[in-house]
Amino acid sequence: MKNLASIILAAGKGTRMKSNIPKVLHRVAGSPMLFFPINVLKTLKAGRVVVVIGHGAEEVREAFKGGEVSFCVQVEQLGTGHAVMVALKELKGFEGDVLILSGDVPLITVETITALMELHRKAGRKKAALTLVTTVLENPNGYGRIVRGDLGHIVRIVEDKDCSPLQKKIKEVNAGIYLASLKFLNDNIKRIGKNNAQGEYYLPDLVELAVSEGDKVDALIAAEPIEVMGINNRVELSKADSYMRRRVSESLMLSGVTIVDPDATYIDYGASAGMDTIIYPGARISGDSVIGSGCVIEEGSRIDASKIGDSTVIRSYSVIESSEIGSRAAIGPFAHLRPGSTVGDNAHIGNFVELKKSVIGRGSKANHLSYIGDSIVGENVNIGAGTITCNYDGIKKHQTTIEDGAFIGSDSQLVAPVKIGKGAYVGSGTTVTKDVPAGALVITRAPEKVIEGWVEKKFKGKEKA
Ligand code: UD1
Ligand code: CA
Repeated sequence: MKNLASIILAAGKGTRMKSNIPKVLHRVAGSPMLFFPINVLKTLKAGRVVVVIGHGAEEVREAFKGGEVSFCVQVEQLGTGHAVMVALKELKGFEGDVLILSGDVPLITVETITALMELHRKAGRKKAALTLVTTVLENPNGYGRIVRGDLGHIVRIVEDKDCSPLQKKIKEVNAGIYLASLKFLNDNIKRIGKNNAQGEYYLPDLVELAVSEGDKVDALIAAEPIEVMGINNRVELSKADSYMRRRVSESLMLSGVTIVDPDATYIDYGASAGMDTIIYPGARISGDSVIGSGCVIEEGSRIDASKIGDSTVIRSYSVIESSEIGSRAAIGPFAHLRPGSTVGDNAHIGNFVELKKSVIGRGSKANHLSYIGDSIVGENVNIGAGTITCNYDGIKKHQTTIEDGAFIGSDSQLVAPVKIGKGAYVGSGTTVTKDVPAGALVITRAPEKVIEGWVEKKFKGKEKA
């Protein structure tokens, strides 16, 4: 967007969060809340973005490193007016309008910012020196109140703590989103004083300063108050979180995904699912996971940073972390795919099976009670119930290789490093310690002994407890 720069205020401590984590790093639908205003600006191709950091500056910088924003540090948090003053130093040489957003207003939309810009830049009328976003709240507590004059013009903003009893009743509030020319900001920012209840430099004082110079201040009244809600405590955080998740779910539903109960389904911003996938309650899908079409994600499943093909079923209470699953596969119930696992098309990973850093080839099955770690399993392998790959010798991890078509009998241990050749059979209960050639049978079973009449003899004349 032409001649636009942005400042995002994110230096405050967020005292009301009662937290050791900087406020803007608290998560909304899976992302730190500061991500959202940055993302809106990115969508708008808004040009330069300066983020003012201070409290927890290094953590915030770290969380957003590599992004297309620059940071400036407000060493002492002396108020929002002071924060903007610090940021303006970064915009030397720029000419145009500056959009000011708050890092703690994550639900703001591209539409609202676009409308603000249109209002500010509308031709054929007296241009406002400052245009801001307001909204009307049933409960305006905590927000700065918009004071309008007799003709309805905005004359000043009074912070909650500075309000007279009468002003406290005003329901139109400041959303903390402003647009003004860099020149206006440079001319006025230093004129802001701190003679107020909090002894801070209040950015909203720009309104009164503009009006006193005969300048016009305009406001866009946001129709959806929740979009401009500031997050100051954990109650508001949870409201923002469920609202954002609702937005994510609705966009998925409109693109053809069935979400049986959106209020009880937790899909993070950035995760996606294809057409005709059905997601049951209690599923939690996070970390930019990509789920294909026609899948079924049953209740209670947790899918993080993973990729799933088409027509795959993730049965109840399975946990899938940083893994990849092909198409027409079946996982769970109660399966655990730990990071670095790859499951091929048509493969089955069943009840109480744990995979770690393993590759399971197409059509292979491990249906019950197994641990498969650091393994490469070929295609159409059958892994019987209770099979364990013993990948750890107390010092190092070792690899197990099972080639195509092999059959691993139930309750076997494969002591790695070890290889089971193509089509080989491992008899039930075998402890394999040496490589097994293709087509061989390996079995380490003690001979079975049957002693007829043993019970009768043992207990004759005695009473069983
Ligand atoms: C602010 C506005 C209030 C408005 C509300 C909307 C002021 C004085 N008040 O109040 O009119 O209704 O937002 O949500 O601006 N920050 C800094 N440096 C500082 C202080 C704050 O960067 O020195 C940042 C914070 O990290 C936060 C934002 O500015 O992201 C707003 O600060 P906050 O303390 O939350 O202001 P509010 O009391 O909510
Ligand atoms: Ca706030």
